[in-house]
Amino acid sequence: MSDLMRTYPIKKIVEHGPGVKSFYFERMLDARAGQFVNVWLPGMDEKPYSVSALGENWLEISVKAYGPFSTAMMDLKVGDRLGVRGPFGKSFTYHDRALLIGGGIGIAPLRLLAHELSAKKLSFVSLLGAATKHELIFIEDFQKWSKNCYITTDDGSQGKQGLVTEDLLSIIEKEKIEFIYAAGPEIMFVKVKELIDPLDIPYEFCMERYMKCGIGICGQCVLDDSGVRVCVEGPVFNQDELKEVTELGMVHRDASGRRVKKF
Ligand SMILES: Cc1cc2nc3c(=O)[nH]c(=O)nc-3n(C[C@H](O)[C@H](O)[C@H](O)COP(=O)(O)OP(=O)(O)OC[C@H]3O[C@@H](n4cnc5c(N)ncnc54)[C@H](O)[C@@H]3O)c2cc1C
Ligand code: FES
Repeated sequence: MSDLMRTYPIKKIVEHGPGVKSFYFERMLDARAGQFVNVWLPGMDEKPYSVSALGENWLEISVKAYGPFSTAMMDLKVGDRLGVRGPFGKSFTYHDRALLIGGGIGIAPLRLLAHELSAKKLSFVSLLGAATKHELIFIEDFQKWSKNCYITTDDGSQGKQGLVTEDLLSIIEKEKIEFIYAAGPEIMFVKVKELIDPLDIPYEFCMERYMKCGIGICGQCVLDDSGVRVCVEGPVFNQDELKEVTELGMVHRDASGRRVKKF
């Protein structure tokens, strides 16, 4: 882990669909799936992004345009320089007979996880959902590495129309799933959790919170009264660690550190 901010030129940009892009840099650091880097856009701010892929000499992050920062990222060109520091946070652990559940841009950290599981010859099934097909990223990779890949979109533009939770229980039973990974909007995870908690299948969830320092100092990403910092003790939490989290799906902190309703 390096907290030293250095700037790097963007080597390549891939547009997955409107408002969803991947940015490639030289491989300036090692990371494991679930870990994130803090990206500094000069004149704007600094924000955390999961590492979505690593090659021998390149590192990729994938960004969806939401607010001012991520929208400004969409205007960047190859050769523009961004600050990058990290990697930060805890990564996913490795398990066989797993199910990867990804929602929207939450698919990004699972892309690196899928690659790592496949390199370790661990078997897994993917269940990926997004609002529309333009937001379904890396589908060909998941199809190549997963035993089976189930897809849903809210608008039915690709895969089955509906939410990832709709066929979740039947997929778990049919595929004899023994471990679950999830990353995506917290509301998706709250619904997934309701369904899987009674099954007693272990799981890990990659959680997002508004972050500033990324290294456990500022307190911006602390969960409720537990003192758990998402940037250090997370962003990947297992089912036992999540038992302590009372604000799941309810509140988070905004940029000022104030607690606000999540949904
Ligand atoms: C550990 C970690 C990893 C992350 N990895 C990625 C990643 O790989 N790719 C990526 O695009 N983003 C990722 N994010 C989110 C990212 O850091 C920014 O929050 C996001 O890009 C929006 O920033 P913004 O300033 O453009 O918008 P903001 O002004 O922060 O947000 C605008 C509005 O969109 C909402 N919003 C922000 N992000 C999301 C979201 N993901 N889903 C639903 N609503 C949202 C906010 O609540 C707010 O209402 C990650 C966050 C964390 C904590
Ligand atoms: S972002 Fe500062 S403590 Fe987590």
